[in-house]
Amino acid sequence: MTSSEVRQKYLDFFKFRGHAVVPSASLVPENDPTTLFTGSGMQPILPYLLGAPHPAGMRIANAQKCFRAEDIDEIGDNRHTTFFEMLGNWSFGDYWKEEQLAWFFEFLTNEIRIPAEKLWVTCFEGDAKFNLPKDEESAEIWRKIGIPESHIYFYPAKKNWWSRAGIPENMPVGEPGGPDSEVFYEFTHVEHDPKFGAECHPNCDCGRFLEIGNSVFMEYKKTASGGFEKLKQRNVDFGGGLERIAAVSENKEDIFSIDDFSSAIGLLKEKSAKKYSDSYHTKSFRIVADHIRAAMFMIADGVEPSNTERGYFVRRLIRRAILHLDRLGIKENSVVDVAQSFHTIYRMKYSELDSRWNIIVGTLKDEEKKFRSGLHSGFKELTARIRELVGRIQPKLYYQTVPTFIEITGKDLFDFYASHGLPAELALEEIERIRMGYSEKIGPFSDSKKKKMLDEFATEMQKHQEISRRGADKKFKGGLADTSEKSIHYHTATHLLNEALRRVLGNHVEQRGSNITPERLRFDFSHPQKMTDEERKKVEDIVNQKIAEKLPVQKIILPKEKAIQSGARHMFNEKYGNEVSVYFVGNSLETAFSKEFCGGPHVSNTAELNGTFKIQKEEAVSQGVRRIKAALI
Ligand code: ALA
Repeated sequence: MTSSEVRQKYLDFFKFRGHAVVPSASLVPENDPTTLFTGSGMQPILPYLLGAPHPAGMRIANAQKCFRAEDIDEIGDNRHTTFFEMLGNWSFGDYWKEEQLAWFFEFLTNEIRIPAEKLWVTCFEGDAKFNLPKDEESAEIWRKIGIPESHIYFYPAKKNWWSRAGIPENMPVGEPGGPDSEVFYEFTHVEHDPKFGAECHPNCDCGRFLEIGNSVFMEYKKTASGGFEKLKQRNVDFGGGLERIAAVSENKEDIFSIDDFSSAIGLLKEKSAKKYSDSYHTKSFRIVADHIRAAMFMIADGVEPSNTERGYFVRRLIRRAILHLDRLGIKENSVVDVAQSFHTIYRMKYSELDSRWNIIVGTLKDEEKKFRSGLHSGFKELTARIRELVGRIQPKLYYQTVPTFIEITGKDLFDFYASHGLPAELALEEIERIRMGYSEKIGPFSDSKKKKMLDEFATEMQKHQEISRRGADKKFKGGLADTSEKSIHYHTATHLLNEALRRVLGNHVEQRGSNITPERLRFDFSHPQKMTDEERKKVEDIVNQKIAEKLPVQKIILPKEKAIQSGARHMFNEKYGNEVSVYFVGNSLETAFSKEFCGGPHVSNTAELNGTFKIQKEEAVSQGVRRIKAALI
């Protein structure tokens, strides 16, 4: 079955059962500052899971565009993609386990025609520490539906509990979550590989099982005392990977074999004259297809390649795709051609691909040109440098044949980035590949080693950014040229402006620079076009409104992870200590209008900003970056 058929059947199935079908939200979260990208169907509808009434009723369904940055290193296997469509249906305090599990089973077996005996299910085994009960109810429903006991497994929270933050321990106060029940498809023709454990089971990684849907029974909320209480309502939050369901509908374990990828892979085969089935190249085919599809959708949602936050991911996706195009022997401009094959497939469903097509093409072309021009010299130098760093120890004994390497540091990674635009993660991959090519006895880097190098890289990057900032502006902390009373006023006004811009123009707005004097503030931010008069007015109104509301400006010191979870804005590539200071404008951190990682200083109440906030100038500084000069008059 094609993926559009699966999508349509799913939406029709739930529409027939009283669900309003709603469109996919953007990949850039609008009201959820906790993550950079929309990574699950529930993120855009969080308020309704917490009890706000949804305008379309208590049952909704959709196919949501998702991007999971954390899966980027998995790409190349047969089951992961960074971008995917998540089929979702929700009950906001309406139906519960009985209906949900039976419907999903009916959908899979009747609509998609998956043989019932290929389905296995998992349930939550409970958690004594948090006093969370075993989900016997779901298991009992599965038995009634006809799933044999041998296909029902219980797992702990790591596998069968879902929240945006993961397991109960990691959930911040107020975060909703609950036990879940997953459905797996069994590829009976795949033999269990004992490398993954003596016995095979649904969560075994040998490839025999593939998860195709997850019903979360979201009825709990983390409390301030670290325990759990029931939410106002019992919700169902279901998510299933469209591409995976389409693949199993044809009993195929390779997700890249579905129709969505066929023209892109076909094009790559033709251009490279290489076989997809040649195991030496399969990974490159998959990485190119996955990354270009993801980058296309991100650009369509307003993300531009850059060195920070979301922009860095798009850049990394495009550059990694080019690297693998290169390995396939495809040298000429081709990123756009691959994107074109996806555009044809998705344009009917996602109209933003049409409306933003010129921007997508321009951006991809530009990035490819920039990167390719430095690519070859970059890799030549990288390879030469690694060779130089390899020192074979004179074997003292006949078995000492493993070459040793002088360490490559994060500083080297930074040099490659600065001189050739090679993202650190890509350089690291390449170094690993070259090292392993020297001897079978050399394995990949350990995760901690990789982390160490990437941390060193981030430190170098930050040093570099600070030096260039200082050179340009002679600035001090927070962009302040001094700490006069007026400058402090403008510093707080800058935080208000930053948030107001994001609310008016969209989530793509990121701070790019700040400079404050006692006369005015100057603020650089990412945005593709000139602001309209109406947008300027709206931004001014919001800032003036927040001044009029006389909101407290408060500082709180938090462990870095907590600060990130709180949704405080920060620079993605900047390195922070374990404890960070967050300034928020509002009565509490949770309800604050603005929250930012910041060292201060600030006023203690917005009422101190006596004057009316006025944007005096709005202009371009470079492509995709705008500059505002504003004053309190
Ligand atoms: N929110 C659940 C998930 O992403 C359905 O798996």
